[in-house]
Amino acid sequence: MIIEVNNILEMNAFGKRLAKLLHGGEVIELVGDVGSGKTTLTKAIALELGAQEEVQSPSFTISRIYPVRDGLRLVHYDFYRLHDAGIMKQELDEVFRDQTTITVVEWGDIVSDVLPPDRLTLTIVPPSEVTRRIIVEASGPKSRKIEKAL
Ligand SMILES: Nc1ncnc2c1ncn2[C@@H]1O[C@H](COP(=O)(O)OP(=O)(O)OP(=O)(O)O)[C@@H](O)[C@H]1O
Ligand SMILES: [Mg+2]
Repeated sequence: MIIEVNNILEMNAFGKRLAKLLHGGEVIELVGDVGSGKTTLTKAIALELGAQEEVQSPSFTISRIYPVRDGLRLVHYDFYRLHDAGIMKQELDEVFRDQTTITVVEWGDIVSDVLPPDRLTLTIVPPSEVTRRIIVEASGPKSRKIEKAL
């Protein structure tokens, strides 16, 4: 499925819509070039989920954790600067399986072998400075349910 947004407000609305469908245990992989809007979308998701703190790009820390509604937590990873996932993979595997965690991953290629098979992959393409095309791909029952409801 492809969703087109005409500006950042519509991107935020999409993030809000997506966030409402999340109940824990979901993994969302965000794909797209630098500046395509992965972190912007994550901010919108976090806001709707009730994160008290504004999402910041986790580039230097690799991950940031935000407590959100219903006793859940949002874990936001950005692997842009990670060159060897090595020992992180064990931790990642646990986070991905945790049913009280909603995980958002930017630049997930380096950990592609531990990304769960059932995940929602959103590929963001910028046709212009303010418009974005979001290619939504579901790869299992849980993510397919979200895609259908979007
Ligand atoms: N429709 C839109 N959706 C999302 N971002 C938009 C849109 N229009 C303009 N922008 C701008 O594009 C930029 C997106 O930056 P952002 O940090 O979200 O990208 P990113 O994909 O996370 O990049 P990186 O790979 O460096 O982490 C922001 O400056 C944002 O304001
Ligand atoms: Mg980013």
